[in-house]
Amino acid sequence: MTSPSDSVPSPPFAPVARVGEIPVGEGRTFEVAGRLVAVFHDGTRYHAMDDLCPHMGASLGSGPFVDGMVTCPWHAWRFRACDGGWCDNEKLKVEVFDVRVSGDVIEVCVPPATATA
Ligand code: FES
Repeated sequence: MTSPSDSVPSPPFAPVARVGEIPVGEGRTFEVAGRLVAVFHDGTRYHAMDDLCPHMGASLGSGPFVDGMVTCPWHAWRFRACDGGWCDNEKLKVEVFDVRVSGDVIEVCVPPATATA
């Protein structure tokens, strides 16, 4: 049995950086599929999430990344890289994306933004 979502192909992985270009404990912001995506390096693996803080739109990719959490550089809201959850209120999340390393290239899988008006 199939559902309508079974026929929708996954978005492709897109290259964003080379291994070594994102220092441990930091993030970088990239445009992928028309969206801004923050990619962080925890020393073992990479994590990707929507770059825009849901509070007032700061770039999360420029915030410090410690113990798997990014702290927004404007007002210090903290988000978990594993699931995008806001550490102070589980009802609020930012979208997270799959990341993989192919050779020495970091790639993220980001669905295109949906129009809102
Ligand atoms: S803009 Fe991120 S906490 Fe305010």
